Amino acid sequence: MLARLSPSGWQVASTGGAVGDVRRGSRLDATSGGRYCAAPAPVEAYRPKGLLAFSPFMSGRPQSAQRQPIINLPITGRERELPRTNMHKDGATVHSSTTQEVSFFDLSRQTAEVRDEVVAALARVCDSGQFVLGPECERLETSLADYCRVPHAVACASGSDALLLALMASGVTSGDEVILPSFTFFATAGAVWRLGARPVFVDIDDESFNIDPAQIEACISSRTRAIIAVHLYGQCADMDAIVEIARRHKLVVIEDAAQAIGAELGGRRAGAMGDIGCFSFYPSKNLGGFGDGGLLTAADDEVANRLRKLRVHGESQRYHHELVGFNSRLDAFQAAVLNVKLPHLETWTAQRRAHAERYAALFAGANLTDVVGLPRELPDRRHVWNQYVVRVSPAERDELRKHLAAEGVGTQVYYPVPLHQQPCFQALLSGPLPETERAAAETLALPVFPEMREDEQRYVVASVARFFNQRSGIPIGEGLRGPKFLKARSTESHRPGGSDARAAA
Ligand SMILES: Cc1ncc(COP(=O)(O)O)c(C=O)c1O
Repeated sequence: MLARLSPSGWQVASTGGAVGDVRRGSRLDATSGGRYCAAPAPVEAYRPKGLLAFSPFMSGRPQSAQRQPIINLPITGRERELPRTNMHKDGATVHSSTTQEVSFFDLSRQTAEVRDEVVAALARVCDSGQFVLGPECERLETSLADYCRVPHAVACASGSDALLLALMASGVTSGDEVILPSFTFFATAGAVWRLGARPVFVDIDDESFNIDPAQIEACISSRTRAIIAVHLYGQCADMDAIVEIARRHKLVVIEDAAQAIGAELGGRRAGAMGDIGCFSFYPSKNLGGFGDGGLLTAADDEVANRLRKLRVHGESQRYHHELVGFNSRLDAFQAAVLNVKLPHLETWTAQRRAHAERYAALFAGANLTDVVGLPRELPDRRHVWNQYVVRVSPAERDELRKHLAAEGVGTQVYYPVPLHQQPCFQALLSGPLPETERAAAETLALPVFPEMREDEQRYVVASVARFFNQRSGIPIGEGLRGPKFLKARSTESHRPGGSDARAAA
């Protein structure tokens, strides 16, 4: 069934209905966590660049001639129609009440899939009495080196520790400078700071959200020791350009691949392109444990040896310390969980990629791409979609988030305050970094996880549509006011995988 065109415009057919088992208890801190950025710029003053461009009429409401039908989401039989509650002034129904919950991230479905196997593996560890490192960790290291297509993998206690160990193994020390993006999780810069080194924040490329290689060279000084490239949201940074700059200046390249296990650039996997790769097994990551865990990858034997020592207080053999390291051992329970999950990773990645493709088709099918900037897979990449992050006008982002929360849709903002604006880094006097600041004000992560159902994605998109229609004051379906986000090129190219995404709608 399709939404239909009424005398007052397109009616939103109800997409409501609690379908299946979306467990309330399993919702992570999806709608309440995180701080919002300071007061958004007034819409009139706001002019996005790059990927997203406002339409000429962005400072006011569009002329009626520019209005287009907005909602034409095909409704599948699996969705339950609920009573319509909101009536437009002309008597036409313009809004359907909705009750469906879509968790931002529902781990319970994945856990259910592997639970029996995991419990058996945990029982084996229990009986083995080897709780720290040991055979489970060694097996995991071998499998992950294989998976990441690198000679060495070294397990550690968290992704944050992996970054710290990588910097230590690279000889970064007090007074050194490390180049990195400001638009990332805190750990990327925290590790630099903890060694007494100075984070030098570089702006991002507006399409990939990753460090802009064109701006790196100007930030290199005689104290620069390393560059950390973060593969944000699951898409690789421009590693060819970054590595080329680093080699010319004799700098170490560290990949923060915490969000990007299995991501590829030109057939090479994340963690295999720089000198050291850092991964996280935090439960929400694409390969998540039942607690904290991390991994380092390296091609060089010497570097890998150093990492192995550093994670056990610099020991070469028991109670003989060549280096000063710290305790960052992975425990065997986590390794056992990860050993069970790893064989599923490719399937889960394929599911994430299919969801991203479907989102793109649904947003396009609903004529929402004028007001919602969609992420896209860049050429030669394999995006693994740890997050599906859209852009909306900064004047509307937080309101949209509240609206989605009220309709049961979990969202998150990664990251509302860029690192160069964090109180703890104020003394660095970094910035301004316009693209980073714009991304912090515009971005909103929508639910995406392998087990997400199609009806849930349709509900999310329908809920976004309801928001923009309600705010426009225009009867649903007649048109949209406000920003026109995407350049024409994105309409085709933002569809991940390049297949006929429209068919999914
Ligand atoms: C980009 C990035 N770097 C580093 C980390 C730190 O990983 P962990 O939470 O395992 O310490 C994370 C985790 O969220 C991350 O997203």
